[in-house]
Amino acid sequence: MPEMNEEILITREQIARRVEEMAKEISADQEGRHLVVICILKGSFIFMADLVRKLTCPLSCEFVQVRMVDAPENRQFREIDYIMEFEVDGKDILIVEDIFDSGITIDYLLEHFRDKNPRSMRVCVLLDKSEAHKVEVPVDYVGFSIPRKFVVGYGLDYGERYRELSHIAVLDGVKWPLSE
Ligand code: IMP
Ligand code: MG
Repeated sequence: MPEMNEEILITREQIARRVEEMAKEISADQEGRHLVVICILKGSFIFMADLVRKLTCPLSCEFVQVRMVDAPENRQFREIDYIMEFEVDGKDILIVEDIFDSGITIDYLLEHFRDKNPRSMRVCVLLDKSEAHKVEVPVDYVGFSIPRKFVVGYGLDYGERYRELSHIAVLDGVKWPLSE
């Protein structure tokens, strides 16, 4: 397992400030209506926990786990691994994702939830690696734009490690994406 780069990319203070700003924007857009906030497990659990505590609209929290499935010819697709049943029809939903990397996960989830007829559907990501996009998806709220490097902390892992860090750090020497 590679060693952590000592250089911190985003500090806990910067994260806290940005999460508060994003929550203000989301609350204002929501105009007091109920919001179904959907956490994409596992990477978004800390971000989601901080975000919902700053939102001022009424809300409920839901959880989905998505798995990467490697397909032939370096193509990847996603499958839902785990979902608890919840009502989407006629609801305002907010998909909360840790990172917009290739975009395949968000694209897959937008299609999945669109079929369930929500009143509105928005996407909130903490990090955006624009140089890594393979599909462009509409994202409504972005925390930070970051370079195409492998990052860990604040929920993001490498082999299930480092999720508990309060900041976001670059991890050197990681082969990512795994399929390339
Ligand atoms: P996608 O490529 O946009 O579909 O992202 C898939 C998932 O890969 C994300 O939800 C993250 O869990 C993970 N991922 C992408 N980039 C990183 C990274 O730099 N660090 C840790 N996990 C990552
Ligand atoms: Mg992950």
